[in-house]
Amino acid sequence: MIQIPLLNGRTMPALGLGTWDLRGPACTAAVRQALALGYRHIDTAEMYGNEEAVAKGVASSGVARGGLFITTKVWTNHHRAKDFLPAAEASLRRLETDYVDLLLIHWPNLSVPLEETLGALCRLAKDGKALAVGVSNFPVELLQKSLPVAGTPLCCDQVPYSLPENQDPLLAFARPRKIAVCAYTPLGRGGFLGRPELKEAGKKHGKTPAQVALRWLVQQEGVAAIPKASGEKHLRENLEIFDFSLDAADLKVLAALRA
Ligand SMILES: NC(=O)c1ccc[n+]([C@@H]2O[C@H](COP(=O)([O-])OP(=O)(O)OC[C@H]3O[C@@H](n4cnc5c(N)ncnc54)[C@H](OP(=O)(O)O)[C@@H]3O)[C@@H](O)[C@H]2O)c1
Repeated sequence: MIQIPLLNGRTMPALGLGTWDLRGPACTAAVRQALALGYRHIDTAEMYGNEEAVAKGVASSGVARGGLFITTKVWTNHHRAKDFLPAAEASLRRLETDYVDLLLIHWPNLSVPLEETLGALCRLAKDGKALAVGVSNFPVELLQKSLPVAGTPLCCDQVPYSLPENQDPLLAFARPRKIAVCAYTPLGRGGFLGRPELKEAGKKHGKTPAQVALRWLVQQEGVAAIPKASGEKHLRENLEIFDFSLDAADLKVLAALRA
């Protein structure tokens, strides 16, 4: 598994399990199964309503907390400092943990001063409740504006990123600053997996279109991906992307999918 260096001196596994839309026992089962297969990075959010189910999956997996990377996110209705801190603490209680590895502002909320929300986020880092902090769905301009305001390094921007979803401007900004980019909806919810170019590149390596799409992301410096999968077949498939590389000829074929 590739590990992505973060600005807090720690690392983030390049592949994680996305849990949006997984709830209750189905979420617990997916998390338990993912951890049994070797996943060590789980992505959740207060808005997903599944942090308790994630905690149950972690607890039943037998994997020690110290070997896991857990991300959660604070929703837009909690951007005021007085709301942000209790919201993050409630996430920690639901996740049955004293800290998360990465705490993100889920979406920008322009009705609350950025300084106030970032202040609360960084307070949680200083208190040890978030080992790393960052943002999600922040375009380059907002990320740029946030950096000097944040009292703690912003380690990650989680954004929609896949072959057809271009994030070149964000990567050009983030990479020299060592800010990790975490790709959500990396499979386009299945929407582009039927493209012949993916099949062509996959055939050469004995890999599926989804594996090619994920490999394309994680072989880029500083990029992680968090595909959601609910059954063993997809969970296993998505993890088995670290035993091959896409070469220049593959990238040329795949360029046809790029926006
Ligand atoms: N920060 C944000 O605002 C934000 C927004 C959206 C998503 N996210 C995060 O990103 C995660 C992933 O994004 P997403 O759930 O939107 O979409 P996605 O991961 O691109 O796609 C998930 C879909 O792809 C299917 N799939 C998984 N592995 C597959 C494979 N190997 N072959 C074929 N199909 C496969 C899944 O089916 P099965 O379930 O049947 O396996 C599911 O229907 C979310 O779960 C969430 O954690 C964050």
